Amino acid sequence: MNKITIVGCGRVGESTAQILAKEELCREILLLDIQPGVPEGVALDLQQSGSLLRFDTRVNGATDAAAMAGSELVIVTAGFPRKPGMSRSDVLDSNLTIIDTIVDDILRHAPDAMLMMVTNPVDVLTWRAWQRTGWPRQRVFGQSGALDTARMTSFIAMETGYSVKDISALVLGGHGDAMVPLARFTDIAGIPIEHFLDDAAIRRIAERTRQGGGEILALKKNSSAYDSPAAAIASMVDAISHNRRRILPCVAILDGEYGQHSTAMGVPAVLDQSGLVEVIELKLGPEEQADFNRSAELVRTDIGHLT
Ligand code: 2OP
Repeated sequence: MNKITIVGCGRVGESTAQILAKEELCREILLLDIQPGVPEGVALDLQQSGSLLRFDTRVNGATDAAAMAGSELVIVTAGFPRKPGMSRSDVLDSNLTIIDTIVDDILRHAPDAMLMMVTNPVDVLTWRAWQRTGWPRQRVFGQSGALDTARMTSFIAMETGYSVKDISALVLGGHGDAMVPLARFTDIAGIPIEHFLDDAAIRRIAERTRQGGGEILALKKNSSAYDSPAAAIASMVDAISHNRRRILPCVAILDGEYGQHSTAMGVPAVLDQSGLVEVIELKLGPEEQADFNRSAELVRTDIGHLT
């Protein structure tokens, strides 16, 4: 890719820029933020790490949205993070106005881009961005499942002591406490997870995964997670940038898949240079589908509150 814009120069935005630059996933990264001097300063700092970390990616910063012109991908991380004790839905009202403004800027200045939503509540705001752009779902998607799945994977590695490289897990649903970790689609080197862990351990890991973001927020108190979210975003960008056709759990607009219409939820999807080109519909068991439906209902309730 030639140019990626990251909107929001908070910790997630900055960490994402750092990985994308280091991995040379595009030629130019533009950091955009409303606070004068901040995106320019962060960009300069990152740029100066280039000779040490050995990358040629250009990193620029701006406060004028017009600078995003020519971007092939816009990653939206801007917004208010939740505080300890808050759910992701609790920041919906404050982040809605911010997202609407950003989406309008994208429509004006980068009308041919793909849009990756990260700001919480990510399912609802991905749906909002999709509606507001009027773009095909292929070009408007969100990050959450890559992160939730990474959390589940690392909890399994911590519990079993096996290499995280051999572990493949899957988490579907909304990015909230009702997300759906799927043990049936989880294995270590192709061997079903039940071979290594009993039911109680699997349930414990699923619950810790659901609370994964909250656990970090409760520990840090003044900041949500940002290293693993940034790495999750980068895995999606890598799939797009290298046209890999990777299957990653993404927030996708559902059009009948999993029995859901006109909502946005975490599901496995194919990512290539054109964006989210295919939703993979798994045959869920009755209990799995019921969990998915419950998660969908919560997202739908939040979407119902949008004006
Ligand atoms: C998380 O799960 C902030 O939603 C983000 O850590």
